[in-house]
Amino acid sequence: MKLSRKRTYWWLIIVAALFSLSWSWSVAENPESEPNGTLEAMLHPPSPVETILRESCYDCHSNSTHWPWFVHFRPFASKIRRDVEDGRNKLNFSEWRMQTGGNAQLESRTLATSCSLMEAGMMPPHYYTYVHPGAAPSSAEVKRFCQWANAEANRLAAR
Ligand code: HEC
Repeated sequence: MKLSRKRTYWWLIIVAALFSLSWSWSVAENPESEPNGTLEAMLHPPSPVETILRESCYDCHSNSTHWPWFVHFRPFASKIRRDVEDGRNKLNFSEWRMQTGGNAQLESRTLATSCSLMEAGMMPPHYYTYVHPGAAPSSAEVKRFCQWANAEANRLAAR
């Protein structure tokens, strides 16, 4: 069956309308970071720890977010942007120096809290690992991260 020309127009209009309703011109930006001020530059985590952070945390807590393609579609657009904004404001590993202000006690607490939240399964959040199953750290990875984070937290607290 061939669609009549009139019907084809109607379909085009409907598709265009749905698209424009759901499309969002949200900015999905990764700001520049000061290379010497990142967590990596300052605390030199061993590479397995760096990998865990990159895979499980950096989408929301760094300036190197991998924005998913659906970031431009409602209803995800505002939720994703808000999460990255809130996540970065609270903790941005790319702006470690600026955020902690060189306060060793604050650095120490932040690392210890990161470990606790990971152990409690609260970070990364469940809705995120549901969409990105690869980002859920295994229990061995949580252990590896905590081993480093807690040792580093103790070292910093003793400063
Ligand atoms: C999907 C985005 C997302 C991912 C991925 C994510 N977080 Fe978060 N995180 C947030 C948001 C949003 C907040 C702030 C809201 C809140 O406090 O509940 C937060 C808060 C935190 C805080 C509390 C900061 C404070 O001072 O209150 C810590 C620590 C933290 N996250 C660590 C991590 C670690 C470690 C990982 C990786 C294992 C991680 N997060 C992965 C979104 C995320």
